[in-house]
Amino acid sequence: MMVEHNQSLQSYNSFGILARAQILVRVRSEDDLRRALSDLSLQALPKFVLGGGSNLVLTGDLKACVLKMESLGRALVAEDDRAYYVQAEAGENWHDFVAWTVEQGWPGLENLAMIPGTVGATPVQNIGAYGVELQDRFHELDAIHLETGESFTLNAAQCAFGYRDSVFKHGPLSHWGELKRGSEELSNKGQKAEPAFMGLAGQSVITRVRFRLPKKWVPVLDYQDLQRRVKELGVNHPSARDVFDWVCEIRREKLPDPKVIGNVGSFFKNPTVSEEQCKDIIAREPSLVHYALHDGNYKLAAGWLIDACGWKGKSVGQAAVYEKQALVLVNKGGRESPCTGGEVMTLARAIQTSVYERFGIRLEPEPLVL
Ligand code: EPU
Repeated sequence: MMVEHNQSLQSYNSFGILARAQILVRVRSEDDLRRALSDLSLQALPKFVLGGGSNLVLTGDLKACVLKMESLGRALVAEDDRAYYVQAEAGENWHDFVAWTVEQGWPGLENLAMIPGTVGATPVQNIGAYGVELQDRFHELDAIHLETGESFTLNAAQCAFGYRDSVFKHGPLSHWGELKRGSEELSNKGQKAEPAFMGLAGQSVITRVRFRLPKKWVPVLDYQDLQRRVKELGVNHPSARDVFDWVCEIRREKLPDPKVIGNVGSFFKNPTVSEEQCKDIIAREPSLVHYALHDGNYKLAAGWLIDACGWKGKSVGQAAVYEKQALVLVNKGGRESPCTGGEVMTLARAIQTSVYERFGIRLEPEPLVL
């Protein structure tokens, strides 16, 4: 176990914001983790689990023991008639893992290529892109409880995945935790039951994730830019490698590479509105980008809403709205004079206010703000 004091976090958050961790422990194995959790000198400090730092806004130094997940390893752990079961340790780089599965001939994750960050962080926000969400390929994960040190395994239902959401984003006593109370338990017993499953935010460390990749592979090509490639290139039966390459190209065209321009991907979630609200906005703004959902509601493109309010290229200090995609906030100061977390949040709040004033919609930030 490597323990570092007053460690700079600039290289460990994809915005490149300057901030320090009081203690940083590099976790390369479960042993490291258990040692850190039982170390008396670290016990007084709150623990914070850090993956690739690609969904994080640091607004100050962390007076915490940062557990930086660096455990490596990936393997095919099982196979049956229908699927391959592939496992990766939490510290593995997500994109490299995806590329490896495609190379091995275990397709299914190709639409999620090039998403920055580590494998262990992917279930937390149920990453998704180009028609696939992590939950579609997820099998189960192993985790360790930060307080008790106990190991446990969760399946997809227990992770309570939603759009950019999971059990790991909600506190144990949150309203959401209450809502998740087993409804059958309530109706069966006719009395208040204990929560069937509670939120786990800040409670646990994901140590490894297993994916179920069906052998009967069907490419997911619903996203417009993918369809365009199929047509333009005349590839009627693309391979997983083709889809992987196209997704990489699309992301390079649309999104800034965090190694070059600091960012955390989409800064806000795409909001959901009722049909009535959607129609009301379209009456005023006919070009509104919207998608029908199965439940009768509509998802709106937050990038379009922000763009319509004229935010592209605008900045607060060194924090700016990306010129090519208004949903992405960037650090335009690079490593030398980076934006601060305060600048990012001031910009984000100004965007929220203007979108609310024009459309009556409250945009919800996607990254964790510390
Ligand atoms: N749009 C604009 N102006 C902009 C940005 C977007 O008009 O400045 C319009 C586009 O023309 C398009 C629509 O908004 O019609 C949607 O844009 P895009 O296809 O780029 O996707 P998105 O909704 O902005 C979501 C995810 C991305 C994911 C893509 C592709 C969220 C919050 N974001 O973005 O995920 O890569 O779809 O599936 O759901 C991330 O989470 O960090 C991320 C990048």
